[in-house]
Amino acid sequence: MIAYKSMMRTSLPIIHDGDHGTDDVTTTLYLLGHPDIFRLLGVTTVQGNVPVSTCTRNALRTLSLVNAHHIPVFEGCATPLSRPRPIGDDAFGDDGLGGADHLPAPLFDAQDQDAVSWMMETLHASNEKITFIVTGPLTNLATLLHRAPDLAHKIDHVVIMGGALNPLATTYERCGNITEFAEFNFYMDPEAADFVVGFKGFNITLLPLDATHHMDVTKARQARALAALPAPINAEIVKLLTAAAHLDQPKFACEGAFHHDTMTGVYLARPDLFEVNEMRIRVVCDDAHRAGQCVPSDDTSRPLVRVITALRDSDVIFDEMIRGIERALSQ
Ligand code: RIB
Ligand code: CA
Repeated sequence: MIAYKSMMRTSLPIIHDGDHGTDDVTTTLYLLGHPDIFRLLGVTTVQGNVPVSTCTRNALRTLSLVNAHHIPVFEGCATPLSRPRPIGDDAFGDDGLGGADHLPAPLFDAQDQDAVSWMMETLHASNEKITFIVTGPLTNLATLLHRAPDLAHKIDHVVIMGGALNPLATTYERCGNITEFAEFNFYMDPEAADFVVGFKGFNITLLPLDATHHMDVTKARQARALAALPAPINAEIVKLLTAAAHLDQPKFACEGAFHHDTMTGVYLARPDLFEVNEMRIRVVCDDAHRAGQCVPSDDTSRPLVRVITALRDSDVIFDEMIRGIERALSQ
């Protein structure tokens, strides 16, 4: 197994960059539930599950839920790097929360500064390297690296939920969740994804569908979450965890819904729970049919990316996710 020195530090400085819909929300909660491990510097938003202004509102609602007004929120890119926004916003409803209607309205405002310039300023001013957790399209980070490649040395580690190499290949014909070939986050901005996974200068870990499709939020896990979390918000959290059921079940015959984003945080907290392989990858950009597909590359100018290929114990990982969320809700 690959070990990172940085993961052994306490209070890792973190920026969570996401397209705040269902599982981006639980990711932010998870990070807030472990202040001993993560020092969340800010939440930045990007278009993806819903338009970016809705993602920003959801990030503010998430932080308002747990009175985390001290965490600043910065709105990021509204469109992909170099193509129009590819698809509509109806997967998780207009608000992107899949029916979890009882999160509070925002109790504070987003910052005026845009996400990319804040990231640049923060990296520039920091005396320590910063870790990024990216749970949406990679547009913000790619924009930053285009604008200020010299700041890459201030980035320690980028943990990305995205891509699909060949998850559950023996069971299912299809590879992607949004198209037959592509995973949603990479599909929403293939150029950005390809630029970041091809960038040499910091550690990159990818959490693709190959791993997340082994985290089925089954009925038994839903019951465990309901029992572990405080009422009445427990029912809302379970709605967030199962919001993709109507999309995943017809494609992959899972029992509940697959869970993706929160495992980025669990990976940093408990890397021992994941199998990792190193490989070079690229993202297909120039073929409309396969846009966003993630494929192995033998181009040695690309960095070796740590790809999480399997979960060692999905029950322990699930319970750890719920424990982090529970701690955030109880603080
Ligand atoms: O493919 C999974 C990704 O897309 C996750 O980031 C989730 O938020 C979804 O919309
Ligand atoms: Ca997401």
